[in-house]
Order: sequence, then C-alpha cells, then structure tokens
Amino acid sequence: MTYLVTGATGGFGHYALHYLKEVAPNEEIFALARSEEKSAALRAAGVNVRLGDYADIDSMKQALEGIDRLLFVSGAPGNRQAEHANVVEAAKETGVSYIAYTSFADADHSTSILAPDHQFTEKLIKQSGIKHTFLRNNWYIENELPIIEQAMKTGEFVYAAADGKTGWALKREYAEAAANVLVSVDVPEILELSGNLVTYEELAEALEKATGKKLEIIAADNKGFVENLKAAGFPQEAAEMFLVIQHDIKKEQLAIPSKDLEKVLGKPLVSLDEALKELLNIK
Ligand SMILES: NC(=O)c1ccc[n+]([C@@H]2O[C@H](COP(=O)([O-])OP(=O)(O)OC[C@H]3O[C@@H](n4cnc5c(N)ncnc54)[C@H](OP(=O)(O)O)[C@@H]3O)[C@@H](O)[C@H]2O)c1
Repeated sequence: MTYLVTGATGGFGHYALHYLKEVAPNEEIFALARSEEKSAALRAAGVNVRLGDYADIDSMKQALEGIDRLLFVSGAPGNRQAEHANVVEAAKETGVSYIAYTSFADADHSTSILAPDHQFTEKLIKQSGIKHTFLRNNWYIENELPIIEQAMKTGEFVYAAADGKTGWALKREYAEAAANVLVSVDVPEILELSGNLVTYEELAEALEKATGKKLEIIAADNKGFVENLKAAGFPQEAAEMFLVIQHDIKKEQLAIPSKDLEKVLGKPLVSLDEALKELLNIK
C-alpha cells in the first residue's frame, strides 16, 4: 500500500504525517511539497517527498504516480476550485484508489462563505468514481488564537457570534483522525468531525479555567469585534474576514452535532480547557 499526504508543509499535513507514521510503514508514506526548498525539512526528517502544485496538473500526475490512498488536504482560498479540480483529475488518471478529503462542516447544506469550494470539490470527487471519505472538519481551536491572545493581553474576551455554537478541537486531533481514516477499510463516505458544541462564552470560561485569569466576556457588535482585532494588530480586511466567520457561527453553520471525531480517534477528545492549555503552552 502507498499513502500520500498533501499539504505536508502545513500544520494539518505535518500532524497527519506524524500520526500516519504510527500506523503505516515509513517506506509506504509519501508527502507532497510544492518545491524542493519547501521539502527540505521533510527530507531531513526521512520523509519520502513528491513535488507537486495543485495549480499544475502535470506536476500532480507525477506526484500521484503509484499512490494508492491519498489524504487530500484542502488548499488556500483563492483559486481553490481550479486547483482542486487538478488534484482530482490527476488522482483519476493515475489510478488513486481512495481519497480522504478535508472538507467543511455539513458541506452540502452549509451557507458559510467557506463552503462553496468544498461543495465543488466533494462533487468532483464523487463524480470521479474514486472511493472516498469527506473529512468534514469542524473548527480548529487554533483559529481562535487572535481572540484568545488579545484576551490574555487586555483581560477582555471579545466575540460577535452571539450564542452560536462551534465544535472546536485541536488541529492535531483532526489530523490524527485523518491518518486513522487513511489506513482503514470501510470508512463511511462522510464524517462530521467535531468537538463538543460550545458557545464563545463557554470558550471564554474554559480559558479562565485554563489560565486562572478572570476575563471580561464581551458579546460585541460588529464594530467592537473588528476594533478589538485591529487593536491586536490585524489589518481591517483580515479583521472583517474574522467577522464574517463570526456571523457564520452565529447562524449555527458550525453547530453540527456529531461524535464521529471521538469514534475515529477511539479515545475521548482533549477537554476544552486542556486544549487551551496546550495551545497556550501552559504546563
Ligand atoms: N477546519 C478549520 O478550522 C480550518 C481552518 C483553516 C484552514 N482550513 C483548511 O484546512 C487546510 C489545512 O489547514 P492548515 O492549518 O494545515 O493550513 P496551512 O498550514 O496553511 O497548510 C496548507 C498546506 O496546503 C499546501 N498548499 C496550499 N496550496 C497548495 C497548492 N496549490 N499546491 C500544493 N500544496 C498547496 C501548503 O503548501 P505551502 O507550504 O507550499 O504553502 C501547505 O502545506 C487549509 O489549507 C484550509 O483549506 C481548515
């Protein structure tokens, strides 16, 4: 069997490779990097590297030659639909037999700003006829670092998602699940991978517990939310992007209840306050 992990130079792919090495022989594992330069750390760690860019279909065909099972980590928003179409076409042409694709919570019903690229990619994978699993990852707790770090600095935890719930878990937990799925047979077509659903108020309370620091928890309006992130050094545009996600969460776009993550991991999830401690490197 041969496995290839894309996005291996990024956070999720890095963790996925780490966990894959625990469940598959090293010689069967390959990692995709966009360039020789970017692959240096992987090679130094003894990882088999294939070079390829989603934007270049020929490079992806070369990268996927002889690969059986593909962990396809979604790329960055921008030209993602065309890039992902190349990856799926290359997988089809090279005879990849299984794709695990990192998708988005409840992708087929979601109205989130982030959903269309994943809806598009899921559809292409289905149409390809390749056996697959959609790893519909809920939200990395790491995404909340800007709000959390600012709260640590100012004592004010500022959010704008009202009582909307999110299924936060550590990026490494989603990645471990992905590695488990990649080496398994008979995985369901769709996994809604999520932590327990909680509100930002509950996240703030868990942060108080994790750090021992009392916080003022502020349900802000749009302006207050953006100003808080700008005060943390974020440009207006980036702060507004965060706000869009807050609106998605307020509209319950991430409130998809599921125990799939725990099931695939075969163990309980890290509790929210322990996850926050890990994130903030608190012993
Ligand atoms: N569920 C969530 O909470 C959440 C949050 C954020 C993002 N995401 C999605 O999950 C993915 C993985 O997250 P992450 O934190 O690991 O992101 P990341 O650290 O930014 O890593 C993204 C990886 O994708 C690679 N990549 C991007 N475009 C590519 C292309 N055209 N060809 C080949 N490789 C390409 C990057 O390569 P380079 O190193 O060469 O750039 C990098 O290895 C993201 O890309 C995004 O689609 C999910």
